[in-house]
Amino acid sequence: MKHHRTKHDRTKLHRRNRRALACGAIALTGALALTGCSDSGSGAKDTKTKAAENAGAKPAIKVSGAFMPAPSMPSMASGFFTLKNTGGADKLTSVTSDIAAAVTLHSTKNNAMKEEKSFDVPAGGELDFARGGNHLMFEKLKHKPKQGDKVEVTLHFQKSDPITVTVPVKEATYNPKPHQH
Ligand code: CU
Repeated sequence: MKHHRTKHDRTKLHRRNRRALACGAIALTGALALTGCSDSGSGAKDTKTKAAENAGAKPAIKVSGAFMPAPSMPSMASGFFTLKNTGGADKLTSVTSDIAAAVTLHSTKNNAMKEEKSFDVPAGGELDFARGGNHLMFEKLKHKPKQGDKVEVTLHFQKSDPITVTVPVKEATYNPKPHQH
């Protein structure tokens, strides 16, 4: 969809995509954990073992680093965050917000974004929403958020209770994780 081109073209897509994919695959492929997505200190082997042990366990999900870049368009904004799961596997199934009539989940692969129905939150792993990769799209904004505003966002899961996060609106170019590897 054309509304994303300018935003996405500015970032190093290939690098980010690989990272986003690696993060999602940690629970499946121990080797990919070596790409450095997860620096929780537990190491690749631990993560894998824990994931297996937790397969039937309750998910335990925490949200960190959430932000919304101040949108340039009046009708649409994006959002990013990281989910860390120290329990069993879960799925992010939908997102709602006080400022938007609809929030959709998107992945980015090979420079193309795709709307997703859900995202896996792997057992003992992470789900990363970052520039150039997975992102939230806030559509039909009730008002245009500006830098310094706070936006309420609620994440809904297959198993876990919903989590509401107060998301700060940052400058339009804000990017806390410019990965170099
Ligand atoms: Cu998108």
